[in-house]
Order: sequence, then structure tokens, then C-alpha cells
Amino acid sequence: MERLVIVSNRVPSLSLETSAGGLAVALKASLEESGGLWFGWSGTITERPGPQPRLDQCGAFSLATLDLSDEEFHGYYEEFSNRTLWPVFHGRLDLLRPDRKAYQIYRKVSFRFAHALSSLLQTGDAIWIQDYHLVPLGKELRSLGKMAPLGFFLHVPFPQAETFAALPYHRELLSDFCAYDLVGFQTSACAENFREAALRYLGGSLRNDGDIAFGTHSVRVGVFPVGIDTKAFREMAGSSDVQRRTQRLRACMHERDWICGVDRLDYTKGLAERFRAFEMVLDETPALQENISLIQIAAPSRESVLEYRDMRSQLESLSGRINGRLGTFDWAPIRYLNKAFNQAQLAALYRVSRIGLVTPLRDGMNLVAKEYVAAQDPEDPGVLILSRFAGAAQELTNALLVNPFDTSAVAAAIREALRMPLMDRQMRWRQMMNHLETNDVHAWRREFLKALKATSNRARDDS
Ligand code: UDP
Ligand code: G6P
Repeated sequence: MERLVIVSNRVPSLSLETSAGGLAVALKASLEESGGLWFGWSGTITERPGPQPRLDQCGAFSLATLDLSDEEFHGYYEEFSNRTLWPVFHGRLDLLRPDRKAYQIYRKVSFRFAHALSSLLQTGDAIWIQDYHLVPLGKELRSLGKMAPLGFFLHVPFPQAETFAALPYHRELLSDFCAYDLVGFQTSACAENFREAALRYLGGSLRNDGDIAFGTHSVRVGVFPVGIDTKAFREMAGSSDVQRRTQRLRACMHERDWICGVDRLDYTKGLAERFRAFEMVLDETPALQENISLIQIAAPSRESVLEYRDMRSQLESLSGRINGRLGTFDWAPIRYLNKAFNQAQLAALYRVSRIGLVTPLRDGMNLVAKEYVAAQDPEDPGVLILSRFAGAAQELTNALLVNPFDTSAVAAAIREALRMPLMDRQMRWRQMMNHLETNDVHAWRREFLKALKATSNRARDDS
């Protein structure tokens, strides 16, 4: 394989320094090392998008992008990707409103992307498609006669088979997944759920090696937990730029302890539950009032989607109520920031915070948890409180693992973290950091591509 071709809906912005979202952050770090081509949506909506991708050079890799039409943005991105697939993959069937027209547009975008991409492909390319927006793309490329190794990685969770089957188009989508040579998931539970769904609803057969066979074609199913660029993040957190930022932050902390939360504003992130747990700590331990603050970054996300706007109003009123009730002239319990920050700003926030509070109700991985650990000062590290329902909990077992739905348990973990002795904090941090150093984003890419190569060699040998 000579060139890596990545395809995703979201690509890094050429004009903005910040792109909140784990996929863009992880892939950018990865492609900066490997080079290659990254193909996706330009982020622009135009009346009549042209068929030819726009080409740019972005450091070590090339970027090829297409605009979306208004109809595509609405049907493919807002309705089907984010109001249908996103809730199903995160187990929120109460939010599911499947719409056939949106589904057709979703499929058409994969068709259009496949045509535009195929003109850029070269012999020896390995094609790696990312996330739920573009599941049908692999099959489209095959139907255009492209025989390159084809891999797919799902950044979000794959739910239990019956949950997935609530989607009226589940069989068709499962068959799209199975058109790849290799399909990767964040955790073994997600891979198992997928196998179960493919066997039950498509009637494939399970081979001894865990692959699923359909006649002469088989799809390999693997587990590849996505990582961060641990070394780069650790170095940035220790850099003089971040040191200057942490000094400025410490000057305005007035010796108070900070707890930080960093998320896209999304209903899967458990932000309202988190605010309530923090409120409970303050109510039950008055001595902590005026001595701790929760700094919550909620970066705007998918703002044209109704459920996201509702979530935003809910958080504004909840943080307003808590601050109004408990705040004093010179102390706000919650600092709620509804904007995106860049990685150096986040590294400084992580480093000064005694606790990283990461409590999603459901999350494919959660890179913020990993970044929080990588940013700590080894001499005096903070404590990570992490939801059991984030993929990261399978790896960061030395965090304080909590059930984010259990307000008292999260409140108890906050108290435990504030009291935790230095030796215990150092021991937990070292274990987690060792894991992150070995299993970083580069290892993730290498492992996936190694498996993809092995899978496509096997397919050639079999034929
Ligand atoms: N992020 C950022 N600026 C912000 C908020 C988040 O750059 O203001 C980044 C954060 O550093 C992390 C990613 O966005 O790399 C979020 O990834 P995560 O896996 O935690 O959640 P996702 O947003 O992908 O659901
Ligand atoms: C999650 C998804 C990504 C997505 C990101 C930001 O991490 O898995 O595919 O890019 O959220 O969401 P957005 O809709 O802004 O791309």
C-alpha cells in the first residue's frame, strides 16, 4: 500500500484553528505523520455544488473537498446522520424520527462522494472511510470497479442488535457495512453487537477467526480503540506557551480548586446530570462552597438541529439557576462557556484542574479523557473521573469510574478525588499514562492498516 486515503464527512478547517470533535482531531494528528489524501465535505453549503473536488495542501497531506447543497445538508447531515443515526447509535430511540426522503439523500451523498473520489484514486491506495455519515460509500466504490483495500471505522458506539433494528433501513445499512474488507470498532462490546446484528439480520455465518462470511465475500471485524497524539499533547502541556497560560489561570483561581469539563454541546455528554452532581456536592458539603468551581466548556455543535438547541436552553437555565442560588459576589459555582477553545487553551485548563470530569451517558471513545491525563504534571497530577459508558473506560481503568446517571455516585467520586492522596494520584496517573503512551493515535492507524493489508492479501489468496 503506497498511499492512505481517508474519507470522512468532517475534515479540518483551513481557516479555523479549532475543530471540536474527536474524529477531526485524531485524524489530523494521524495524517500529519503518515501523509496521504483526506477527502470530505468542505463545510460549505452552495446552491449547485460542482462534481469536482477542490484540492488543497494541508501540511503533510492533501485535502480534497466537496460542497453540499442545501437539500443535502438538511437530508444527509442534519436529518439522517444527526437526527437518525446519531440517536440510534447512542441508544436514544426516544429521539428517533426516521424519514425516507432524508435516507435517500443520505445514500445519494455517498454515491456522489464515491464518484468524485474515484477520479483521484491511484493504484496502491488503501481507502479508509470514517464514521456513520458515509457507511454506504464502500459499496459505491466497489460498484464503480474500485478494487483497493477498503476499511471502515465507526467512531461512535454500535448499539445492541435490537436497538439497531429499530432503524427501518437496518438491513440495507448492515449490508453496506459488510461490503468492506475490514470494519473497526472502538470496543469489543461494539464489535460483538455488530456481529450479532449482521448474523441475525443478514444471515451471514461466523467463521472461526470472528470474520463474517457471505458466500465468497467475508468481512473482518476488529477492535481498534482510537488514541490521541500522547507525546505531542504531553509536550504541548509542558511548553512555555502553556506554562504562561496556566500562570494566568492560576492568578484568577484565587487558590480555589477547579474541576473541568470539556465537551461538544451534545445530549450524549451528560452535562445536565453533571451539573446536578456538582450542585449536590456543594449542597451536601457547605465547606466546599466558594472553594471549588466547575469550568464547563460546551463547544457549540450541530446548532441547527432541534435537540441540540433544546439542550443548550436546558444547560443555560440549569447553570443560571445553580449560580443564582449558590453564587456569591466573588464566586460562581459553574463557569459555563459556550464556545470552542484551541488545544493549547485546553491543555492549560486540564493542567490547572484538580479533576477532569468526563461523564457522558454514552460515548464511542472520548478523547478529552485521554487529553486530560496526558496534560497532567507528573509531580502533582489531577484525578480523572470517567463514565463507565465511554469507550475510554475500557482502557483508563485507573480513573475513578462512575455511573453518570447516578448523581450521588458522581458526587461521591468528586469528594473522593478532592481528598485523594498524592501517592494514589501519581500511581493512577502513571498507569494511565503508560497505556496512552503505547496506544496512541499513530499506533491506532498502524494497527488498523496492518489488519486491512492482511485482510486484502487474504482475499487475493482466496480468489
Ligand atoms: N475540542 C476542542 N475544542 C473545544 C472542545 C473540544 O478542540 O472547545 C476537542 C477536544 O480536544 C477533543 C475533541 O474536540 O480532541 C472532542 O473529542 P471527544 O472524543 O472527547 O468527543 P466528540 O466531540 O468527538 O464526541
Ligand atoms: C463525533 C463524531 C464525528 C464528528 C464529531 C463532531 O465525534 O463521531 O464524526 O465529526 O462528533 O460533529 P460534527 O457534526 O460537527 O462533525
